[in-house]
Amino acid sequence: MSGELETVSDIESLRECIRGWRSAGKRIGFVPTMGNLHQGHLALVREAQRKSDRCVVSLFVNPMQFGAGEDYDSYPRTLEQDRAKLQDAGVELLFTPSVSAIYPVGEDQQTRVEVPGISHILCGASRPRHFVGVATIVCKFFNLVQPDLAVFGEKDYQQLIVIRRMVADLAIPVDILGLSTVREADGLAKSSRNGYLSADERALAPKLYETLRLTAEALAAGDRDIEQLEAKGLERLRTAGFRPDYFAIRRAHDLAPATRQDHALVILAAAYLGTTRLIDNLNAAEQHI
Ligand code: PAF
Repeated sequence: MSGELETVSDIESLRECIRGWRSAGKRIGFVPTMGNLHQGHLALVREAQRKSDRCVVSLFVNPMQFGAGEDYDSYPRTLEQDRAKLQDAGVELLFTPSVSAIYPVGEDQQTRVEVPGISHILCGASRPRHFVGVATIVCKFFNLVQPDLAVFGEKDYQQLIVIRRMVADLAIPVDILGLSTVREADGLAKSSRNGYLSADERALAPKLYETLRLTAEALAAGDRDIEQLEAKGLERLRTAGFRPDYFAIRRAHDLAPATRQDHALVILAAAYLGTTRLIDNLNAAEQHI
């Protein structure tokens, strides 16, 4: 039986609630989201609840992490459904700030957090401001919520690595937990953006994960020609009807280019179906390489 979900939009009410819990010695778990919650988000919530006494979820479509011409305006906003899901899940606090509460001096004048290097490769190469926007908002939320731990999905693998680096570099006292990607029955990673796909695109979409798996199998079978495996992955995606952005095999811990000697690897891909950009990844270490 879950208690009442409290929803706050202003920073003072959030801080007051957190102060009460802190002085009562409660351990606080945090799940930042942009809403339109699906099973993947709810798995993050369950993990936060398992590891803490009180769970805070934020719901904020962060303009700073969207580039010009991206889907900020059309990003699905489903507050009432999201609230109902979090209430059912037994979450204690939902934080839904406005853009002006988060960026009172305006987005352009806002102090930013940049994790150099890894913010500008892979997804960061085609979305140059994206990870600055992510690091800035996550850092700000950590200062507001002051959680003991925060849970992120491994589906956004590069985001997870950027956040781990930010937390280490700035000595932010928050444990960062990564949780395995939740998938549809046909393998497609759950994502709010799957809702943009037409029926035909939705039928093709699982080929992204299939291509990652075929590459992981080749690695597991001893194929170490990284360049050729990447080229094959790109070609498979094109043949399946995608417009790939990248298909890369990287070192799992820092996303540096993999060499034949590396064993803990992650295969990452981003590809368009029509106008929808899908991302996915597969940790090749899990494939017993
Ligand atoms: O993964 C997301 O939904 C967002 O990038 C996050 C972490 C909530 C920051 O806006």
